[in-house]
Amino acid sequence: MKNIGLNFSNVYGILPKAKIDGFKASSEAANSALHQKTGKGNDYMGWVDLPGATPEAELADLEKTIRKIQVKHIEVFVVIGIGGSYLGSKAVIDALSDSFAAIKGSFEAPLIVFAGQNISEDYLFELRDLLDSKDWACTVISKSGTTTEPALAFRLLKQDLEEKYGVEEARKRIIAVTDESRGALKKLAKEEGYKTFVIPDDVGGRYSVLTPVGLLAIGMAGFDIRALVQGAKDMEIACDPKVPYEQNLACQYAAARNALYQSGKKIEILVNYNPKLHFFAEWWKQLYGESEGKENKGIYPSSVDFSSDLHSMGQYIQEGERTLFETVLSVEEVDNELLVPEDEADLDGLNFLAGKRVDEVNKMAELGTTLAHVDGGVPNIRITVPKLNEYYLGQLIYFFELACGISGKILDVNPFDQPGVESYKKNMFALLNKPGFEKESQAMQERLK
Ligand code: PA5
Repeated sequence: MKNIGLNFSNVYGILPKAKIDGFKASSEAANSALHQKTGKGNDYMGWVDLPGATPEAELADLEKTIRKIQVKHIEVFVVIGIGGSYLGSKAVIDALSDSFAAIKGSFEAPLIVFAGQNISEDYLFELRDLLDSKDWACTVISKSGTTTEPALAFRLLKQDLEEKYGVEEARKRIIAVTDESRGALKKLAKEEGYKTFVIPDDVGGRYSVLTPVGLLAIGMAGFDIRALVQGAKDMEIACDPKVPYEQNLACQYAAARNALYQSGKKIEILVNYNPKLHFFAEWWKQLYGESEGKENKGIYPSSVDFSSDLHSMGQYIQEGERTLFETVLSVEEVDNELLVPEDEADLDGLNFLAGKRVDEVNKMAELGTTLAHVDGGVPNIRITVPKLNEYYLGQLIYFFELACGISGKILDVNPFDQPGVESYKKNMFALLNKPGFEKESQAMQERLK
């Protein structure tokens, strides 16, 4: 089986190879530290050897649970969670789904929709309106079990489910994914007797897609969770600290990012040429943004969908401030074949493309854009993905997770905490007069006078 690949040839003209290789020793040391679970955040490094250690019993239990729900022939499965508790499954499901699955429907698997990832009243109203006429079930996912957004959405949806099916049947249609022993969700799940999966203590939200957090929804959508885990396992082996830097993709990517950052490239743009990867980039942005952006340091992760965004962001990338570099997800083989037709009148002047595959046009757009951006001073890292399937997505997920841990360690931050996220919560609770936040509420009122 092929692996995903990494190509720096369009970086070297702007940043010499020697500068990247200057981070060889630190990337190897960081990789070893992660595997030995030492250094900052060492109680959150369980994901490092998770793919290889995924218990067979857990996979079998997930499959059994999925089948139990699927035999009910439900039409919609709602995944309630935010941040790391939803982005991973959304990323994989979107990458593997027919672009129009929501409209076409499927007889094999329910449509997966998400809730609790925002606090929009309209979103929740419209979702409930949809569910009213559908046969549905849900999962509520929260490691802490106390996050406001999913808790709020679950409170509403739980009531709807109980009203629609009765309390007993509703209990069979709710699956909780949470901490083994802590948090309000754990307590509720225990009291109500929900089927529950555990998020391991030493795996943080944004590194949890290969646990039931991601696997349950991905499997429910009809995708092969074993192939996903297998891809991750193979990448775990390929990026083991015993594998030298010259062959170790995670070390090389982490080294390149840090070298580029040190040379003034403060913004990384994850580029795709397939809209199915839009949410993969959202997952990646959370992973890197929350892991590295602290202590006034860190590359700002952003993303674009090309060629759509060449008509919006292309100008800036070509000629704006030269603080950018691009990392392109280049999918080698597409699933379908479509040829450009001949047109007798040729009013659009496209007959020169007749007989070519649409994907060939897309590939030339990619190559042309890369060369133009490199000429404009934007270094370009290319990640080749043989095909968009479960196996290669598993490889990609583990590769990015490990490279993120290594990269954060080189930057000398704790890549596994997110202290900054608390600030908005504190203000929101103060503004909403949450019990226990009286002092903050008073200070807030003074501030807003
Ligand atoms: O990466 C993280 O830890 C966070 O983004 C969390 O995933 C997010 O805040 C949701 O937290 P929880 O699963 O505890 O509800």
